[in-house]
Amino acid sequence: MIDTVAWVLPRPSKTKYPGSFPLYFEQKLLREIGLPKDANILQPFGGMAEIGTRMDIQKTLTLSDGRIIPLHPDVVGDAHHLPFADNSFDLVLLDPPYDDEQSKQLYHTGHIKLRFKEYAAEAVRVTKLGGHIAVYHWLATPALLGCVLVKRIFIETRTWHRLRCVHIHQKDPVAAARKLGLDRDHNAAINILNRGLQQVGLCQPELNASGELAMAGSQKEESVHAKSEDN
Ligand SMILES: C[S@@+](CC[C@H](N)C(=O)[O-])C[C@H]1O[C@@H](n2cnc3c(N)ncnc32)[C@H](O)[C@@H]1O
Repeated sequence: MIDTVAWVLPRPSKTKYPGSFPLYFEQKLLREIGLPKDANILQPFGGMAEIGTRMDIQKTLTLSDGRIIPLHPDVVGDAHHLPFADNSFDLVLLDPPYDDEQSKQLYHTGHIKLRFKEYAAEAVRVTKLGGHIAVYHWLATPALLGCVLVKRIFIETRTWHRLRCVHIHQKDPVAAARKLGLDRDHNAAINILNRGLQQVGLCQPELNASGELAMAGSQKEESVHAKSEDN
C-alpha cells in the first residue's frame, strides 16, 4: 500500500507567480521525504520556487496586464535536456505547465511541446540512486522507469480549484525490476533503466565488448518497458 497523505495549504499570494506552489509546500515536502535543508535539489520548471537550483526556460514572464516578472533562474534551459551530470541530485521536483494550453496562455512557452516521458526520464537520469523525483500536477502522473512510487500527496488550497497531486518516486532500479516480477541482478536492473532513457534519446547506449548493445533486443525486456509504462 502506497503511503498517501492530504494537505490543506494556504494559496500563494495572488501577486506572486502564476501557478506557484501553495505556501509552505516546499518546506513540508522536504520534511515528508526526510531531506535536510542543504540537500541537493533541482527544480527544472523553477518559476519562482524557493528552494534548490531553479532552472527555467525563460528569465522573465510577461503577464497579461503587461507587467514583467523577473524570475532570476539559476540556470536558463529546457527541462527536456538537463545540463547536469547523471546521479547528481537528492531530489528533483517537477512542476511543469499542466497542459499545452496553459503553457501557451500562462507562460508563453507554447513553442516547446511538453513531453512527459522525456522530461521525466531526464529527471530520473540526474537523480542519485536512492534519491527522489516528485511530480506536482493536477493529473495523476504515471510510473517512472527505474523508480518505485513511494508516496502520494493530495493538496487542497481553495474551493472550486482542482486538487494537486504530488507523486513521489524513489530511484531504485533493482526494486522497480523486482516489482515487475523479475528476478534480476543489480546490473540488469540498471541496464533496463539505461535502455529506457536511451529510448527517449537521453542516454548513451552501453556497449558490450563486441560493440553490441548490452541486453539488446530481448523480447523479455520489451515486455518490461510495456509493463512499466502501463503502471
Ligand atoms: C507551474 S510554473 C512553476 C511554478 C513554480 N513551482 C513556483 O512555485 O513558482 C512552470 C514554469 O515552467 C517554465 N517552463 C515552461 N516550459 C519549460 C521548459 N520546457 N523547460 C523549463 N521550464 C519551462 C515556465 O516558464 C514556468 O515558469
